Amino acid sequence: MSNLKEIIIDTIAQTPEKQITFAQYMNLALYHPQEGYYSSKKKAIGSQGDFFTSSSLGKDFGELLAEQFVEMWEFLECPNPFILVEMGAGEGILAGDILNYLEQNYPNFLKNLEYIIIERGFGMIEKQKALFQQWQEKKFPISWKSWEEIPDDSVVGCCFSNELIDAFSVHKLTVKLGELQEIYVSYSENQLIEKTAQLSTSRIREYFQLVGIEIPSEAYIEGYQTEVNLAALDWLKTVAAKLKKGYLLTIDYGYPASKYYHPQRFNGTLQCYYQHRYHSNPYVNIGQQDITCHVDFTALELFGESLGLAKVGFTKQGIFLMALGLGERLISLSSGKFNLSEVLYRRDALHQLINPAGLGGFGVLLQSKNLENNNFQLKGLMEYSNQR
Ligand SMILES: C[S@@+](CC[C@H](N)C(=O)[O-])C[C@H]1O[C@@H](n2cnc3c(N)ncnc32)[C@H](O)[C@@H]1O
Repeated sequence: MSNLKEIIIDTIAQTPEKQITFAQYMNLALYHPQEGYYSSKKKAIGSQGDFFTSSSLGKDFGELLAEQFVEMWEFLECPNPFILVEMGAGEGILAGDILNYLEQNYPNFLKNLEYIIIERGFGMIEKQKALFQQWQEKKFPISWKSWEEIPDDSVVGCCFSNELIDAFSVHKLTVKLGELQEIYVSYSENQLIEKTAQLSTSRIREYFQLVGIEIPSEAYIEGYQTEVNLAALDWLKTVAAKLKKGYLLTIDYGYPASKYYHPQRFNGTLQCYYQHRYHSNPYVNIGQQDITCHVDFTALELFGESLGLAKVGFTKQGIFLMALGLGERLISLSSGKFNLSEVLYRRDALHQLINPAGLGGFGVLLQSKNLENNNFQLKGLMEYSNQR
């Protein structure tokens, strides 16, 4: 039995009902300080890891995001400092691509930039710090902080994340005997098993009220399963409190609530990634595999509004990156300046970033706080805002 599985069974054994919520289970599997998936130094992202993200495909993703950050800085009338808060920076590749590009192309913006990383995985923090040693040596203001270390109402700039919310722990739910019930994790003969019981918190019903979904109702069959990401709401509340003026940019895979909670999606969206294979069993490879769920963008939008975060626009990654100049990058590959293998590799990478059936279909949600003129059209949303 793996160490982490033993720790989880011990944790369950200490509870009065001999069960923990799936959210508590996922939290331990991914973030247990020593044994959790994101705590270990094992490579998680990239060809040697378990899954790819957009920045695994090369520098283009980070460079195009950098273009958007420069424009945000200009819209905010070039504040000093402009703070970029990257949340869930993974192996640190995206941050590196952004900063290297800014250094080469926008040195004036870089002089005004402060970069803060908020990262939960201990293993990830170590990898990120190793990657940015040189930047720290040249006294560039990059730092790793917890939210508690950032005062409320202090960030002027942009908080952003790529594939962060899908890594938050979720509550698993099911319809049983016509009732909405919660799925808990228990054990029997040293094996982890699932049990259903009443909802662990009234916040789950409040969540469905927020997004306008009625479960149970006739449309939802017995055995229907889904998830609710309450951690996403807690995170949004924290980000909104820290942001004084500026933007929140969220890129992730997901759907609006009507699609997420469509009765036909009766097995939910939970997926596990292990060595570039995906499956839906979170109880194997514990601490060695990623566990994720899609993001409900309606919840982020509506809850954000209640916190003073105005929706600037929602689009798809492919459209967003095209608006930021990905098309020109594709065209420039025919300029004769690159060798054939470089052209083939980059063309494939750029196509993957915009492929509507893959990364290009990811959601891009832009929210803002305290901007007098929210009508400034950001380049990434040009002509495409509010598309679904
Ligand atoms: C799927 S990875 C994405 C990595 C990276 N953004 C990229 O695009 O390659 C999720 C990252 O979010 C981190 N994470 C999860 N929950 C977090 C939280 N509440 N605060 C900060 N980081 C978190 C994980 O440790 C991991 O580094």
